[in-house]
Amino acid sequence: MTRRTTTLFAAVALAAGLALTGCSSDSSGSTGSSDNSHSSAGKPRLKISGAFMPQPATDMAGGFLTITNDGDAADKLLSVTSSLSDDVTIHETKDQKMREVKSFDIPAHGELKLERGGNHIMFMELKKQPKQGEKVDIELHFEKADPIAVELPVEAATHNPKQH
Ligand code: CU
Repeated sequence: MTRRTTTLFAAVALAAGLALTGCSSDSSGSTGSSDNSHSSAGKPRLKISGAFMPQPATDMAGGFLTITNDGDAADKLLSVTSSLSDDVTIHETKDQKMREVKSFDIPAHGELKLERGGNHIMFMELKKQPKQGEKVDIELHFEKADPIAVELPVEAATHNPKQH
């Protein structure tokens, strides 16, 4: 394990600790106490929408979607896995250059948008080139929420929902 990874885990642990200090709902398994007025407090509630992959022209592809968080706690998108590629990372775009990041924030009562020209999922060394109309399965991994499986419909190479 590299030093960077250790530092990341320390940072994540710290962030999780901070998030929990505001609420004592850690013992969510103990029901029956009548003053448990907000049983879902402190938990992210994530929903995925607008997912797609533009049909790739090479052995690289991008993935785009929106994660909406209706919950009272922020979460982080940490990683993405897929049967299409063993090399899937998350990238941000700054000054027209993309760069791998360790996580994306998903604010409480907010959203994380992965869209063309901005943050995205990056698939390298595709095992096959999916065609428009096919679907690509991925799984999103979060700091707090359980993993979410999503199917990305493959759209035309130029597809951009913002232009609709
Ligand atoms: Cu990228």
